Amino acid sequence: MTTQTPSVEKQRFGQLPDGRKVEAYHLRNGHGIDMTVITYGGIITSLRTPDAQGNVDDIVLGFDSLEGYRSDAYRQSNPYFGALIGRYGNRIAEGRFMLDGTTYELATNDGPHHLHGGDKGFDKRLWQAHSFENDTGVGVELRYTSEDGEEGYPGRLDTRVTYTLTADDEVIIDYHATTDKATPVNLTQHSYFNLAGEGSGSIVDHRLMLNADAFTPVDDTLIPTGELRDVAGTPFDFRDATPIGARIGEENTQLVYGQGYDHNFVLVRDDASAGELVTAARVVAPQSGRVLEIATTEPGIQFYSGNFLDGTLIGKGGDAYEKRSGFALETQHFPDSPNQAGFPSTILAPGETYESRTVWRFSTQRDDNAS
Ligand code: BGC
Repeated sequence: MTTQTPSVEKQRFGQLPDGRKVEAYHLRNGHGIDMTVITYGGIITSLRTPDAQGNVDDIVLGFDSLEGYRSDAYRQSNPYFGALIGRYGNRIAEGRFMLDGTTYELATNDGPHHLHGGDKGFDKRLWQAHSFENDTGVGVELRYTSEDGEEGYPGRLDTRVTYTLTADDEVIIDYHATTDKATPVNLTQHSYFNLAGEGSGSIVDHRLMLNADAFTPVDDTLIPTGELRDVAGTPFDFRDATPIGARIGEENTQLVYGQGYDHNFVLVRDDASAGELVTAARVVAPQSGRVLEIATTEPGIQFYSGNFLDGTLIGKGGDAYEKRSGFALETQHFPDSPNQAGFPSTILAPGETYESRTVWRFSTQRDDNAS
């Protein structure tokens, strides 16, 4: 592989109906990896990495035009391809929570529930951006201010997210936020990966390791019951790397509710305290030999096996995105935490700073069966 100089390049990506311009930032790490981030939704529209043979493919689902992310078909199925999610990743039951004696009503956009920030979450907002190069790598910093009352949330939330692509083949995602009133905050990144290349078919052969010995079971509308359930002896035990599809069809009420995996896993921290990076997941694609490792400061990770993709969306390579043609691993606090006294708190108070870091590390291995 030829080594090049790391670089960042800015280009026009499109225009919103109100005339505002959407920019794309192309990041190259000089080591064979490049990625594109747009200022609409902070979406990663492409991420290209070499496989074990050195062939470069785009390994995230998405589109190469703004229209792809704004079409009626896209909005109807609302998969949140590649987007930054806020103010709250995953669901808040019935879009309602009580904080300091006040009941807040949020936008409901998932049956009776609030999902991924509401009707117009951070994934559909235009972010202010600037690129940077530093000792760690090349990147783009995105800023968005969510006004008091937006989608029903209290407080004006100043949000800053940076993506850094490093020479060590990592993507580092740093999240910061401050508020002027207490509010729930749970930011995440919603890329769908296919480590054999986007549009290449199903991800059920990918081998997944999750560093979790419990998960949060849900009801039939995907709201956590509040229980932390041991994964031992269940299809949710990924402590040893296992193909995603190995047990996905088993008779299991939780798999029926999710139509596959769509669950929050509770990460093992050993002695690492809250706020320290721990390994969360490792995924290997057998054919391409691509490996993705995820580390995070968050307590949980949502493993979503792309169950609701149904082939209606045609991706940037011209292929239909069928059921399970991508998976998401969303580092996060647990779903519905504002209504779950037993879950780690997601409330950010004035004077505090929300800080969270997630690292994706890309590599390759040649032995299909090694995990
Ligand atoms: C959720 C799924 C949802 C998907 C797309 C995931 O984070 O867990 O239930 O269908 O996002 O909206």
